[in-house]
Amino acid sequence: MQPKGTHARDVIAELKSRNEQNKRYTSGRILCSMCTSPHSVAKKAYQQFFESNLGDQALFPAAAEIEREVIAQLSDLLHGKDAAGFVVSGGTEANLLALLAAKNKTNLAQPEVILPDSAHFSFTKTCNLIGLKPVYASLDGNYRVNPSIVEKLISKNTVAIVGTAGTAELGAVDPIDDLSKIALRYNVHLHVDAAFGGLIIPFIEKAFAFDFNLEGVESMTVDPHKMGMAAIPAGGILFRRKEMLGYLKTETPYLSDNCHYTFVGTRSGASAASAWAVFKTLGVEGYTRIVSKCIKNAHVLARGLEKIGYTLLCEPQLNIVAFKAKNTKQLSETLWRKGWYVSYIPRYDCIRVVVMPHVKRRHISAFLADLAT
Ligand SMILES: Cc1ncc(COP(=O)(O)O)c(C=O)c1O
Repeated sequence: MQPKGTHARDVIAELKSRNEQNKRYTSGRILCSMCTSPHSVAKKAYQQFFESNLGDQALFPAAAEIEREVIAQLSDLLHGKDAAGFVVSGGTEANLLALLAAKNKTNLAQPEVILPDSAHFSFTKTCNLIGLKPVYASLDGNYRVNPSIVEKLISKNTVAIVGTAGTAELGAVDPIDDLSKIALRYNVHLHVDAAFGGLIIPFIEKAFAFDFNLEGVESMTVDPHKMGMAAIPAGGILFRRKEMLGYLKTETPYLSDNCHYTFVGTRSGASAASAWAVFKTLGVEGYTRIVSKCIKNAHVLARGLEKIGYTLLCEPQLNIVAFKAKNTKQLSETLWRKGWYVSYIPRYDCIRVVVMPHVKRRHISAFLADLAT
């Protein structure tokens, strides 16, 4: 830190100029992100609540109430009648809390979790942090976990099984209905990572069974800061049964509240306020409109890619398109140099494009035109 302060005006001017080096969602060229430009109402709501701390709720009762309302709306959307949960820092924290609760409930000496090969890397972090052994289940030809393999991997040490509704790499939706039956048969916790798909699947026509309507689903991750268009950070964790929160409880002796359930202590109420504001502004109708545009655009991209000679890795299940070229890695580097920010996925040797709300039809046309030359 410098010895003397600088005038705030100059500080802000410097930040403004530095910010210009960041990529912008509005350019339509960020094709690798599961986040998007937050809805304009999210930004305003965030500013209003940016001082509030959900880690000290007696001081900020309005923020706490807004968090409860966000959780109630998510629970309602995902058919969790008496579900309980929190607005957290993102999918990583949500997945951590789900597996921590499942582990604490069983209290096994050598706990294991069964993960699809396609599970998000946040589960690797979680396993390292809380001492869970990951046991990986392989996928079928459509990049969805194979439920019969999951069943074979269940042992006396299994504390949970995980399914993903909208994988990070391909947007694949695991057969959660089959996993639910297995979870019930073996009386094991099923966690559904719907960080991405949780605010897509409820709004599409060809619905997948993936939520608390399936009796075996015990917890779900759903992130307002991805397709929910809330400001970062806004993740969500939901438990079917309120009692599960007891396995996450930590006493907080010097605070106005006497306990915490989340991993993060000081939590911005602005996250909950931004999600609340977008939910209220868009409603089911607004989300349905936005999601259906993204899905349509993903199909336009998929068909366009095939037309100019690229091979799709698989038919998109949600709004993620993955394709291969002759030299896919080199192509992804060329695209970055041309200002198209795609991701290269080594394990499938493919390029992945996430068709988020900021990616419009004109951007897809320009991208295809660049690929065709
Ligand atoms: C399926 C899935 N789960 C978990 C996460 C982790 O979420 P976050 O980056 O918000 O912690 C992601 C992130 O993209 C994801 O796609």
